[in-house]
Amino acid sequence: MNQVDYLRISLIDRCNFRCQYCMPQGTELDYILKQQLLTDDELLTLIQEVFIPVGFTRFRLTGGEPLLRPGVVDLVSKIAAFPQTQDLSMTTNGFLLAPVAQNLYDAGLRRINISLDSLDADTFDLIIGNRGRSRWQDVWNGIQAAYHVGFDPLKLNVVVIPGVNDHEVLDLAALTIDKHWHVRFIEFMPIGNLRLFGDRGWVSSAELRRQISDHWGLTESQIRGNGPAEVLKIPGAQGTLGFISQMSECFCDRCNRMRLNADGWLRPCLLNETGQIDLKTALRHGVITTQLQEQVRELLEIKPEINFKERDSGTTAAYTRTMSQIGG
Ligand code: GTP
Ligand code: 5AD
Ligand code: SF4
Repeated sequence: MNQVDYLRISLIDRCNFRCQYCMPQGTELDYILKQQLLTDDELLTLIQEVFIPVGFTRFRLTGGEPLLRPGVVDLVSKIAAFPQTQDLSMTTNGFLLAPVAQNLYDAGLRRINISLDSLDADTFDLIIGNRGRSRWQDVWNGIQAAYHVGFDPLKLNVVVIPGVNDHEVLDLAALTIDKHWHVRFIEFMPIGNLRLFGDRGWVSSAELRRQISDHWGLTESQIRGNGPAEVLKIPGAQGTLGFISQMSECFCDRCNRMRLNADGWLRPCLLNETGQIDLKTALRHGVITTQLQEQVRELLEIKPEINFKERDSGTTAAYTRTMSQIGG
C-alpha cells in the first residue's frame, strides 16, 4: 500500500482570481465564515499533535489563494520549524507574491508552484476573470521574484483549455529552455466549472507531448515533487516539462495525500467526500488529540477504497466543492 505522508493544507477558501476552469461563472461561492476557519493555533496543534504523529512529513499550503491568509509568513515559519517537516511547499496564483517572496523564503518555504495559464495578458485576464487593470504583469513579477529569491524547484502550472490557451503550449514549454523552471501541463478536470468543461472538453497530455516532441523532441527527466506529474524535458533545456494526466490516466493507486480544508474538514480524496472528518469541531469540543490520531489512522486504513470509489464511478461525479474550496 502507498505511504500517505503528504498533507495539502488549504489556508483559506477565498481567492482574488476567478479562474474560468476553477469557479462557476456568475454564481457567488459560499465562503467559509471567519469563525469557522481553523485558527493558526488550531492548525499548528493539528499538524504537531495529530498529523506528524501518524506519519505526515510533507506539507503543501494551498487556498483559494494562500497568500490572502493573514499571518501566512508566520505560519510558514512555524510549520517549517517542526523537526519532522521534510518538505514545505505552496501553490499560489502569484498575484501577491512579489513583495513577500523573500519573507516566505526566509521563513523556510523552499518550493513554490505558481499558476500561469497564458503568456498573453489579454488571454490571461480572460482566464482569471479579470476585467480591471491587467494582472498578468503582477503575476510575472511574482514569478521573477520567486526565481531571484532562490525557490527551487519553481513550477509553473498550466491548465490547458481547448480554444482558450492550447495554442500557447509551445511558447509556454519554451520557457524551460533557458531557465531552470518547470512548466506543468494539467488536464482540465470536470470540477468547478462543468459548463466550460462541457463546452470545451479537454486536451490530453499525450496530445501535448506529441506537439512538443514534434517540435523539439523530448527526453526523460526528473524533478523533486510529491505529485503525480510525469516529467520530461526538451533536449538540452535547463528546466523540465511535467504532465499531470488525471483525466487520461488514473493515478489513484499511487495517491499519497490527504487534504485539510480551511474549515478543518479532513478529506481523504480530492474527488469525493466519503469518510471526511471534522477535526475542527472535535478540537473545539475538547476531544483529545490522541483520539483524533486514531480517527486519522482509521481514515488512512480505508483510504484506498475511497480512492477507487472515484475511479470506479468514472470522473464525472457531481462535486459539491470547487478546487478553490478544496485547495487544488
Ligand atoms: P509537487 O509535485 O509536490 O510539486 O506537487 P503537486 O503537483 O501535487 O502540486 P500542485 O498543487 O501544483 O498540483 C497540481 C495539480 O495536480 C492540481 O492543481 C490538480 O489539478 C492536480 N492534482 C493534485 N493532487 C491531485 C489529486 O489528488 N487527484 C487529482 N485527480 N488531481 C490532483
Ligand atoms: N482542472 C484541473 N486543474 C484545476 N485547478 C483548478 N481547477 C481545475 C480544473 N478544473 C488547479 C489549478 C491550480 C490549482 C489551484 O488547481 O491549476 O494550479
Ligand atoms: Fe484560479 Fe487557483 Fe483562485 Fe482557483 S483557486 S480561481 S485556480 S487562482
